[in-house]
Amino acid sequence: MPDDFIRRISRRALLSAGAGFVVTTAGRRASARANRDFRIAAAPARASLTGHDRRPTDVWAYNEAVPGPTLRVRQGEPVRIIVDNRLDQDTTVHWHGIRLPIGMDGVPGISQPPIRPGETFVYEFTPPDAGTFWYHPHANSLQQLGRGLAGPLIVEERAPIAVDRELLWTVMDWRLNPDAQIAAGFGNMMEAAMSGRIGNTVTLNGVVATDAPVRAGERVRIRLVNAALARIAALRFEGHRPVIIAIDGQPCDPHEPADGRLLLGPATRIDILLDMQGEPGRRYRVVDDFYDGLDYWLVHLAYDKAAPTRAHPPAMLSLPRNPLPEPDLKAAERRELVLQGGMMGGGGMRAMGGMTGMGRAAWAINGTSMTGDGHAGMAPVATLGLGRSCVLTLRNETAWWHPMHLHGHSFRVLRRNGAAVPHRVWADTVLLAPRETVDVAFVADNPGDWMLHCHVTDHMAAGLMTILRIGDGGSHKR
Ligand code: C2O
Ligand code: CU
Ligand code: CU
Repeated sequence: MPDDFIRRISRRALLSAGAGFVVTTAGRRASARANRDFRIAAAPARASLTGHDRRPTDVWAYNEAVPGPTLRVRQGEPVRIIVDNRLDQDTTVHWHGIRLPIGMDGVPGISQPPIRPGETFVYEFTPPDAGTFWYHPHANSLQQLGRGLAGPLIVEERAPIAVDRELLWTVMDWRLNPDAQIAAGFGNMMEAAMSGRIGNTVTLNGVVATDAPVRAGERVRIRLVNAALARIAALRFEGHRPVIIAIDGQPCDPHEPADGRLLLGPATRIDILLDMQGEPGRRYRVVDDFYDGLDYWLVHLAYDKAAPTRAHPPAMLSLPRNPLPEPDLKAAERRELVLQGGMMGGGGMRAMGGMTGMGRAAWAINGTSMTGDGHAGMAPVATLGLGRSCVLTLRNETAWWHPMHLHGHSFRVLRRNGAAVPHRVWADTVLLAPRETVDVAFVADNPGDWMLHCHVTDHMAAGLMTILRIGDGGSHKR
């Protein structure tokens, strides 16, 4: 049974202990006022995930940090990032959510050759959109992401917004053995056909966190990044009312989440405004209660004893919109992608019709399974004319949740099960509930062969992935 399965793999001591650890709000750590060169090296490292007094974990990391360094760049200014591969296997870096040229997209065999051990690759692009993004490998993704290779990428708005402080919370999920080492068993097919590799240890900015110090009255922008392999989070801020101002980097109409919970599938980013209306000296839990019976607290908002800095919260504010092309819904081409496969409640695999593909598959899109991390030679599921508007229907026929991600574009989220989605929401990764149908729309203005896949990494590796070809798709091939 799905639920029992999740319970079994997740209940093992969700480490909530640990010393009085202050969340380092990495916000300004690697700040750069003008875009400049960055250099990141992917290499084995050690990280104190469960507290500095505990045994460190052997990880793979960018610049020896988990998460990797925060790359802060400016909207509309060129960025150059030199990546050194000091792993003993091929890697690449994918700049998740950035609308960039296909040759910079980081998919081995499709957008670039893999970066071999000891080699360097230079990524260059100009981010058109301000917002919260992240980067991660697109090679052997299960292990490379699961062992710690991920980092935040912040594209700053041209003019800063009026908040007192900004926090960046990167959430990662680990499956650790009692000796604090990463458990073996990546790519377990049973798991891949269910919820994916959900861990037993959730870190916030690289540590099992306890307190985030705050001050009564202040207004904080929190950039939330779910960099987990498979774990979905649903965050409730006890005693507080978060307002969503952007999803996947793209500003939306400011709104409180429907049931007060922020739903963050893997790869999703949400920017919130949080007015600290709690009592000085008190602590409030931030709870993740996505999985039934497995709720835990991620962190506490720990109020300073000082009197509130202001009596009332300031007026609501919204972020300036990014220069996204508005799809023409009337003239749009329509495509449907059906998500198939996975384990059923009774234990059998769901039939996948005339499924064909490569590697070991548990999932399919329109009957075809692309496994691994994406590779050349796979026929695109659909081809779109350059510049055409497209309405894409994603129909989840499975019994599982899937955060579906499209490279190279952001899309408008139009409807869920036929009902209009309010607040003018754009995304690059949209979370589908079991058997849910979601309509999205975008302008196919970026030529190339773009990956479209589930961001539960085990699902992607086991076939829930395909290619959308825009234009002739092949002009970039090397
Ligand atoms: Cu963050 Cu192909 O994905
Ligand atoms: Cu992506
Ligand atoms: Cu999935």
